[in-house]
Amino acid sequence: MVVTGDLIQDDSAGAYKHFCDLLGALGLPVHCVPGNHDIRALMREALADPPFHYCESVQAGTWLITGIDSCVTGQAGGDLDESELARLDATIAGSNEPNVMVCLHHPPVPMGSKWLDTVGLDNGAEFLHRVAASGKVRLAIFGHVHQPYDADHGGVRIIGTPSTCRQFARGSDEFAVDDTPPAYRRISLHADGSFEHELIWLEK
Ligand SMILES: [Fe+2]
Repeated sequence: MVVTGDLIQDDSAGAYKHFCDLLGALGLPVHCVPGNHDIRALMREALADPPFHYCESVQAGTWLITGIDSCVTGQAGGDLDESELARLDATIAGSNEPNVMVCLHHPPVPMGSKWLDTVGLDNGAEFLHRVAASGKVRLAIFGHVHQPYDADHGGVRIIGTPSTCRQFARGSDEFAVDDTPPAYRRISLHADGSFEHELIWLEK
């Protein structure tokens, strides 16, 4: 399971414990990256032991799945600083797997929503350039936007998944939620580097 950030919203260790109690019961490895509502120190501590993983990389068949931190403390919008970009480059270059999926919180592409695009990823274009240049990154997945997204950017699929809670109204100039239900996405990574994914809306 991959959780692309904003695990909690009330800045408490208790909320992370609740998250771990719920997801630990699934019997799956749970890979997480931080979102703007997370508190890094609390999150790292809560996810220190298996089945939880914080911004780690995992090898799965011919794939490397890797998480990066796009958050800026105190800001809703994101940015990948030079050290995190360098860490991503080194992780990809140092892996023997020919296929890579990158997980991050903020969208590296505009969403076409005025307010949401003021809190996106500052240097999304730099991220897209680096992952395309790697020749290994097949897809990057993100959260933050509470709505679906799926498009090819220079040979890399960029995929956003709606929230497991409320959704934001698509294309809205101002903050607004709509009444679509919670959702998650099932992604199947194949040995030849191809993949399939399915968006699953939960019943209200
Ligand atoms: Fe967020």
